[in-house]
Amino acid sequence: MPKLLHLACSPRADSESAAAARIFLDSFGRAKPDWNIDVMDLWRESLPEFAGALLEAKYARINGRAFTDAQHDRFAEAERIAVRFSLADRVLISTPMWNFSIPYKLKQWFDVVIQPGLTFRFDPAQGYLPLLKDRPTLVILASGSDYATGMNRGRTDMATPYLREALRFMGIKDMRFVPIGPTTGPTEPIRIARENAHRRLAEMAASF
Ligand SMILES: Cc1cc2nc3c(=O)[nH]c(=O)nc-3n(C[C@H](O)[C@H](O)[C@H](O)COP(=O)(O)O)c2cc1C
Repeated sequence: MPKLLHLACSPRADSESAAAARIFLDSFGRAKPDWNIDVMDLWRESLPEFAGALLEAKYARINGRAFTDAQHDRFAEAERIAVRFSLADRVLISTPMWNFSIPYKLKQWFDVVIQPGLTFRFDPAQGYLPLLKDRPTLVILASGSDYATGMNRGRTDMATPYLREALRFMGIKDMRFVPIGPTTGPTEPIRIARENAHRRLAEMAASF
C-alpha cells in the first residue's frame, strides 16, 4: 500500500498549519482512498536526544570507525525514523514558523535523520551526495506575518530556505511550499490568507 508520511509539527490545538493539513488530507484521501497515511506528531512521539552515543555514532561513521554496542543501539533508533521517511511515497510537513525558522522538534527530527549512510554520503571527489529517492513533498508553513515578499517589517523567513536545503541534501527535489500568513493581527487578512491556502491545498491534493 503506498504511503504518505505526515510530519505534524505544531503543538497548538488551534493550529493553522494542522487545520490546513486536514483540508489537504481530506481531499487527498478522497482522491487516493487506498493510500496509507502515517502521521508522525513530533510533539507526541519521542525523538532521541542527539547527544551521547547517538552523537558519537555519527562521528564514528564520518571517521570510518566501527560502532560500539551503545552506538549501534542508539543509531538503530535514528535508522528506524529515517527509514519511516525513506519508505514514504509522499511527504507532508505541516509546521509553524518559530523565531524566523522551524520549531526545535522539527529541527531535532532533521538532526536525527540526516545521517551518513542513511540519507546522505560523502564522496571525496564529488562531495556530499543524497541517498534518498526523490518524492513529492509538500510543506505547509504557518506564520504570524505574511512573508510573500520574503521579509515582513524586519522579520525574515529563514524556515523556507532551511527546509529547502535540508530536504535537498537528502535527495528531495520535488517540493512545494504553501505558506499561510498572516495568522495573527487583524481578522480580515487572516481570513483571506487562510482561504487562499485552503483553496490551493484542496486543488493540489488530487494531483499530488
Ligand atoms: C515561539 C514562537 C515564535 C514565533 N516566531 C514567529 C516568527 O518568527 N515569525 C512569524 O511570522 N510568526 C512567528 N510566530 C507566530 C506563529 O508562526 C503563528 O502563530 C503560526 O500560526 C503558528 O503555526 P500554528 O498555528 O500551526 O501553530 C511565532 C510563534 C511562536 C509560538
